[in-house]
Amino acid sequence: MARNRVLVGVQWGDEGKGAEGDRMSQDPDVDIVIRYGGGNNAGHRVKVNGQTFDLHQVPVGVIFGKIVLLGNGMAINPIELVFDEIQKLRDAGVNVSSILISDRASLVMPWHIEEDRLREESSDGPNKIGTTKRGIGQCYRDDADRIGLRANILAFSQDRFESVVEAKLEEAVKSIKALYPSFDVESFVAKFPWQDLENARLYLAPLIIDLPSYVWKAIEEGNGILAEGAQGAMLDLRLGTYPFVTSSHPTIAGALDGCSLSAKDITDVFGISKAYTTRVGLGPFPTRMAPVVEEGIREKGAEFGTTTGRGRNCGWLDLVQLKYACRLNGVDALTITKIDVLSGLEKIQICVAYRLNGRIIDYVPADLGQVEPIYETVDGWEEDLANCQKFEDLPLNCQAYIRKIETIGVPVKRISKGPERADVIVLAA
Ligand code: IMP
Repeated sequence: MARNRVLVGVQWGDEGKGAEGDRMSQDPDVDIVIRYGGGNNAGHRVKVNGQTFDLHQVPVGVIFGKIVLLGNGMAINPIELVFDEIQKLRDAGVNVSSILISDRASLVMPWHIEEDRLREESSDGPNKIGTTKRGIGQCYRDDADRIGLRANILAFSQDRFESVVEAKLEEAVKSIKALYPSFDVESFVAKFPWQDLENARLYLAPLIIDLPSYVWKAIEEGNGILAEGAQGAMLDLRLGTYPFVTSSHPTIAGALDGCSLSAKDITDVFGISKAYTTRVGLGPFPTRMAPVVEEGIREKGAEFGTTTGRGRNCGWLDLVQLKYACRLNGVDALTITKIDVLSGLEKIQICVAYRLNGRIIDYVPADLGQVEPIYETVDGWEEDLANCQKFEDLPLNCQAYIRKIETIGVPVKRISKGPERADVIVLAA
């Protein structure tokens, strides 16, 4: 029986899903890669033979000629997809003919992006999230409110498509104006990118499919699926650090609905975590490092967002958070990325519990902002890891660090120690 795997980020995103998805996609057992949620708020950077690809909506499997599907749970920006991402892939010589799109995916429209921008720029109080300003939250909100547009409309005739969009545009500008009186409706409507939308529609219309029946048939025929996540478990709308989360479900729940898989279809869940922690945007981050250490890690780990270029906040590894995310997702095995970034630190801190209102706890409470981390301090290592080929080649303190991570009850199966494909140590079973 073919395997259906899920790759899920178990921190706040940016764990290295791009590179890991790239490695997993090459497995001959993987026939179809499905991106299950999020939109171009995500950025998956992959380096292949010296070429760098920044993917935002298209699953990384496209680079290896796999069939790639944009899943039911995605918030798709059609203009960016066609004129930015697909165009760049084509320019780089990638065959993009295997991209297909679920007719149930939500569409991010220009008014969503405008509203996201207005909200982020006008609020400095409790409403500010530090979003990527890609209109993601507004798109999913409309979907939940049952007034959103879905990718099925891209397959309509031009007339029908435009009349649906026009009606929504009218409603949307009214409600944005009511919320943000400074919003210039006339100028927004005058500049509305009708032509770009139509060109995007023409390109995407033949790619729209009924994803559930496509996926189920593929499984029946023995094809293996890789469900590729975006963001990370702690950004999950329901189970992350609400309200400082994204508006979709990066967890396994999102993989099921985004790929139309049943729980029984899933054979393996792979979690991915950095050897330390990062987070962009606002929200609680208990293990954030002291500024001078953080600065060093940010530079060494090139911790700047692929999508927004924002510097990421950096923190120590948080085993309480990691255990929570692994349990939530049913992670079978972990990949630990960027272990090399920790080389050279004399001491490394690992969060093993929290203090909440004077009590020691070992779970993630709904409001992570109230906890104080309790650390264990371990010795670091000086050695460069470039020539380490197997686990036993790693410095002993580095091996001990990995073993410490495994105390959460999940085995570490892969360790990445650099951005290139070959920079991976696979641990024996
Ligand atoms: P939004 O998804 O643009 O609405 O942003 C909501 C929160 O999720 C913000 O804190 C973003 O920085 C964060 N976020 C969204 N996508 C990513 C990602 O791909 N990596 C890391 N953080 C993300």
